Amino acid sequence: MKKEITIAIMGFGTVGSGTYKILTKNRELIRDQVGMDIVVKKILVRDINKKRLVEVPQELITTDAEDILGDAEIDVVVELMGGQEQAYSYIMEALDRDKHVVTANKELMAKRGREILTKADERGLSVGFEASVCGGIPIIRALKTSLSTDKVNRIMGIVNGTTNYILTKMSQEGSEYEEALGQAKSMGFAEADPTSDVEGFDAAYKMAILSSIGFHTKVDINKVKREGISKITKIDIEYANELGWTIKLLGIAKDIEGKLEISVGPVMLPKDHPLALVKGVNNAVFINSEAIGELMFYGPGAGQMATGNSVAADIMDIGRQIALGNNMKPNCSCFADKTYVEDSRSSYYTRINVVNRPGVLAQIASVFGNYGVSIESVFQKKTEAERAEVVWITSKVEESSFRKAIELIKSLDVVNDVSSIIRVEANGYC
Ligand SMILES: NC(=O)c1ccc[n+]([C@@H]2O[C@H](COP(=O)([O-])OP(=O)(O)OC[C@H]3O[C@@H](n4cnc5c(N)ncnc54)[C@H](OP(=O)(O)O)[C@@H]3O)[C@@H](O)[C@H]2O)c1
Repeated sequence: MKKEITIAIMGFGTVGSGTYKILTKNRELIRDQVGMDIVVKKILVRDINKKRLVEVPQELITTDAEDILGDAEIDVVVELMGGQEQAYSYIMEALDRDKHVVTANKELMAKRGREILTKADERGLSVGFEASVCGGIPIIRALKTSLSTDKVNRIMGIVNGTTNYILTKMSQEGSEYEEALGQAKSMGFAEADPTSDVEGFDAAYKMAILSSIGFHTKVDINKVKREGISKITKIDIEYANELGWTIKLLGIAKDIEGKLEISVGPVMLPKDHPLALVKGVNNAVFINSEAIGELMFYGPGAGQMATGNSVAADIMDIGRQIALGNNMKPNCSCFADKTYVEDSRSSYYTRINVVNRPGVLAQIASVFGNYGVSIESVFQKKTEAERAEVVWITSKVEESSFRKAIELIKSLDVVNDVSSIIRVEANGYC
């Protein structure tokens, strides 16, 4: 008869130390709910001499993964190292050796989640990955449990805190992108190389994970359309503001009659949309489902304790299953393949820099018209002797027609450049 659940943590940085803190501080609370103690037996790190964010008995620390993978007493391996190949091989090895797994690794789960979950299912093991999406927000658990009987139609989310911080700064302080990025770095909200955040990769991984669970399928990360925020300018933020909109890096996933459409990119949203009100590094996920209707989850998308809590909750869930001797199928790896929408429909904000001459607007309007792109509104902004800036808001149109029209517009001799194109969700609910 088992007396305790034994776990090992691989990686003892921000999230690893937060997880350890929660497990030790709330040990009794957790024991009362699981029915057994959860005990950390080993912690894997790279540098044994590094000062840690939380004090741990030195005998727990190791640099040898085999101390964990080869220990038959360890029930759960908690991967909090990040990275790809090493993390993947430790996770697969842990499953091969009959250990349950918890991870916060979004890139790994987005790219190789199916392999991991399939192996776990084959071996009757659980993989918890709540912390891989939106740090402290229990969104995966909600999709897997409360929403599992419902049909999810749409998932929209601000799932990257760094970009939301940058866009909030640009909007509140009128700063340019580079300045706001610099502030994010100095606050510790952006990494030295911010590419994964600002170019939308991180958000794309999270949207792939959420869509897999929400739409009961396996999402191919390569099918997630991705655009970052590095081309957003102060002028676009100003014009959006004048139009009653705000710019957010949004993940949008839709199930349109069985076909998926998943994208990450800057979107203009009405200022009163619940997601438009999410400021700074916070995250939020907005869900529309058939039975429930609209739901929104809001909270910290990262951080030592918030993310550590999500990891600890996954460990506790697995602990409960072990304590109950439960064999239920926990991983939702029963994913059907789905196809993808080939040509999405959207409205667009387009800022075009033109030669200041009569007839120019008519020329551009005629190209839009030839491609079936209807214009909702057009307004001329900065006008100088030689040049003018014109903003066009289109009606909903197939992306392919819109892009063809833009290519032709770029080639007109009255057009200096197409300075920006941003999707508009004018009613905010896609
Ligand atoms: N930070 C957050 O708020 C947050 C939120 C959600 C999800 N996540 C995810 O959580 C994971 C961990 O993130 P983090 O911010 O905690 O990272 P971190 O602070 O950089 O910590 C990483 C830890 O892993 C250890 N490590 C890395 N590679 C290793 C290897 N090959 N062998 C042994 N140990 C290794 C490091 O050891 P040393 O300390 O000895 O160098 C360090 O302790 C990542 O997948 C991340 O995407 C993080």
